[in-house]
Amino acid sequence: MNAKHLSILQNIHLEVNAGDTLAIVGSSGSGKSTLLSLIAGLDLPSKGEIYLKGKALHLMNEEQRSEMRSLHVGFVFQQFLLVNSLTALENIMLPAELANMPNAEEKALELLAKVKLSDRADHFPSQLSGGEQQRIAIARAFISQPDILFADEPTGNLDTKTGEHITELLFEIHKQFGTTLVLVTHDNKLAAKCKKQVRMTSGSLVDVTNRSLGNESAIEQVNHEYMIKASSGLH
Ligand SMILES: Nc1ncnc2c1ncn2[C@@H]1O[C@H](COP(=O)(O)OP(=O)(O)OP(=O)(O)O)[C@@H](O)[C@H]1O
Ligand SMILES: [Mg+2]
Repeated sequence: MNAKHLSILQNIHLEVNAGDTLAIVGSSGSGKSTLLSLIAGLDLPSKGEIYLKGKALHLMNEEQRSEMRSLHVGFVFQQFLLVNSLTALENIMLPAELANMPNAEEKALELLAKVKLSDRADHFPSQLSGGEQQRIAIARAFISQPDILFADEPTGNLDTKTGEHITELLFEIHKQFGTTLVLVTHDNKLAAKCKKQVRMTSGSLVDVTNRSLGNESAIEQVNHEYMIKASSGLH
């Protein structure tokens, strides 16, 4: 085996229908974040196919994937990744401004109210608690009204009560806008709220009943929101 080539995911076949909620669970290092960044179009697989809204992400260049992301995808990172030099309101507005969306500030203010942080609009991330920063990150992910929201451990760094608030918030938005949710989580309560749960084990995916999802026969389904059939190596 080439020491520089690390195969992280293998034989993954996963389909997510529009409006579904999916939890990806699994132990540390099993490949959950890698899978999430592939299916969100942040990264490219070294082998395999990824479709979002019927379009082949794996055949797109960075610019095309970036456009797909800004049209369809929201992403909440494990470490929030807010811009420290921007206020809470400016952080929420950022994706909308980059996409030249009209009424960015109005929309950001609405979302700020939705995450119950209207009084913190002018505060910088360093002046906010972890839970508050996570709420800002969720508001930012929703400003472009994505069809699908990916969140990597959205409750991972939070205490139980704050985590429950974040969970409620995600599902409230899911209900209100019909947003598809794909969540990586160690939080059993959050996973249990999702319609479907899959587990990553050493780069492979099994559903909660332990059935392998490597079966390729179902791949012809066309009504998917998102579909992946990928192996991923990192070079
Ligand atoms: N850029 C990279 N270069 C080399 N190896 C990487 C890279 N990113 C991830 N890996 C490796 O890929 C494997 C899967 O990592 P990944 O971050 O997807 O795991 P995870 O399931 O999200 O873990 P955690 O629960 O700890 O967040 C790990 O062995 C990790 O060390
Ligand atoms: Mg991870």
